Amino acid sequence: MDIRKIFLGYFQKNGHLILPSAGLIPENDPSVLLTTAGMQQFKPFYLGIKKPPKSRIATVQKCFRTSDIDSVGYTERHLTFFEMLGNFSFGDYFKEEAIKYSLDFMVNNLMIPIEKLWVGVFSGEGELFADKESEKYWIENGIDQKKIYWFDKKENFWGPAGDTGPCGPCTEIYYDFGEKFGCGKKDCGPGCDCERFLEIWNLVFTQYDYNGSRYIDLPSKNIDTGMGLERIAAVLEGTPSVFKTSLFKEIVEKIKE
Ligand code: ALA
Repeated sequence: MDIRKIFLGYFQKNGHLILPSAGLIPENDPSVLLTTAGMQQFKPFYLGIKKPPKSRIATVQKCFRTSDIDSVGYTERHLTFFEMLGNFSFGDYFKEEAIKYSLDFMVNNLMIPIEKLWVGVFSGEGELFADKESEKYWIENGIDQKKIYWFDKKENFWGPAGDTGPCGPCTEIYYDFGEKFGCGKKDCGPGCDCERFLEIWNLVFTQYDYNGSRYIDLPSKNIDTGMGLERIAAVLEGTPSVFKTSLFKEIVEKIKE
């Protein structure tokens, strides 16, 4: 199964222009050393500096995430290099459609049972409101309210990539591998450090430009999503470890040899 192809095919069918991954070294962007996310190459579109070729785009982006590097080697899910499946909207669709697409893709295209999915939503902080709207759309699309967790800015507000730039509240989808992978603690749930819940897809509502001290409204409300290819492969192959997926199999076999 080529997950990349299925992902791009789904979003193309839903009106998205498919673009190639940008390089790992961002062009004309001194805010980061390496490309950390699919949205990186689209920053000028979010900021309204350049017009996108289409108001909805999808990509599979090569990423290197320095902010996670201390976790690499200590967990079954963090990688230095990974690929990010992403759909983007520039002033086109917003929360309602982004949530609908993500569930339709996972449940009706990847055939993941909806009962296995949990979500996190932004609980608000300071001048930033709690994201009641997303909660409503998740419930409307079949997620049980008990499976919706509220998280603060540290967990459910994404960006900017670098010190300034486009950012916004986000909502994340977790896959539940089941109790046998859990720590057994009473409060085990999405966000727990154990292996039971794997964060697979982040939907960002990119509506602010952070200038270092304030959140300024962007010219339009936008979407930036990212799903880790290695993580969704782990889900589909039934293992909570990205290192045990077919993506790493050949490398591991070679090293063993
Ligand atoms: N830009 C978002 C992320 O990297 C989707 O999680």
